[in-house]
Amino acid sequence: MTDQPEQISRASAHAHPNIALVKYWGKADTGRNLPATGSLSLTLGALQTHTTVARGASDTLTVNGDSRPEMAERLFRFLDSAFPDRPALSIDTQNDFPTAAGLASSASGFAAVVCAVDGLLQSGHSEHRLAQLAGGGSGSAARSLYGGIVRLDAPATENDDIRLRPLAEPADWPLEVLVAVIDEGPKAVGSTEGMERTRTTSPYYSGWIDSHARDLDLATDAVGKRDFAALADVTEHSFFKMHAVMMSSQPALLYWLPASVGVVRLVADLRARGVPACCTMDAGPQVKVVTTPDAATELASAITGVAGVQRVIRSGLGNAPVVNLER
Ligand code: PMV
Repeated sequence: MTDQPEQISRASAHAHPNIALVKYWGKADTGRNLPATGSLSLTLGALQTHTTVARGASDTLTVNGDSRPEMAERLFRFLDSAFPDRPALSIDTQNDFPTAAGLASSASGFAAVVCAVDGLLQSGHSEHRLAQLAGGGSGSAARSLYGGIVRLDAPATENDDIRLRPLAEPADWPLEVLVAVIDEGPKAVGSTEGMERTRTTSPYYSGWIDSHARDLDLATDAVGKRDFAALADVTEHSFFKMHAVMMSSQPALLYWLPASVGVVRLVADLRARGVPACCTMDAGPQVKVVTTPDAATELASAITGVAGVQRVIRSGLGNAPVVNLER
């Protein structure tokens, strides 16, 4: 009798969200969910998605304890293409931070589920392959397969895939991120619909795409030299350009609230006075402030004082996902 490998009965994965300093906004291929541009991100250690998967009688999903049919449909369709021979799955996922409010919960969510399903099915995909699969669910999720500071390159040709490169481990350059939480509600327009609206209607879209490679190279160079001022310059430029193409879409995509402006202005004033800090925002009103550990405490208390800021989440850089298997 030949020994059968013992089946894994349950697999769980922890993954962290990430925030882009050089932003991705726009798809080259909506079918394969391929980005039109590269991006560069920080993996956030203090925020976490924890996903557990097991074989089930039918596909089921709970998110923070609630069943979410609208998320389940997208997730199981994605898993059908990422793991074509998969069995029915029972999936439970917990986020310790607001879901779908521009805090990149889809990034950590797709990264965690891809790692957990790979573990359950013993597919044995490489980290790079798992990143490509996660990117099929949510473009930014590919970056959450790595810790520290991560660069994603867009496909060079239409038959190509994304490429990922970790540029620094968390200990190499211990940056900090302060997330000014302004509104925890779900975003008004999701990123897939928003990106297509921008691509098809903004008169500035081609300028955004054409100027992107330079930003990515400047940021990569700044990371290599641990040059905070240079990284801050390109981070803010990429963030303002992305929101400019969002706002110049028709109808306009305006993710800002008054408190977002308040935090961005405060940080600009502090930075002009020599504080190492810069801002970025995604498809939601939260402002993420990147800084260094020595400046973080004072900066966090200044941001907390801005009218409309509900709380500030502080995070250092995090590691790649961790998977646990139960036999
Ligand atoms: O991964 P998606 O499809 O949610 O898109 C992310 C888009 C931004 O968060 C706005 C920018 C980025 O690069 O993360």
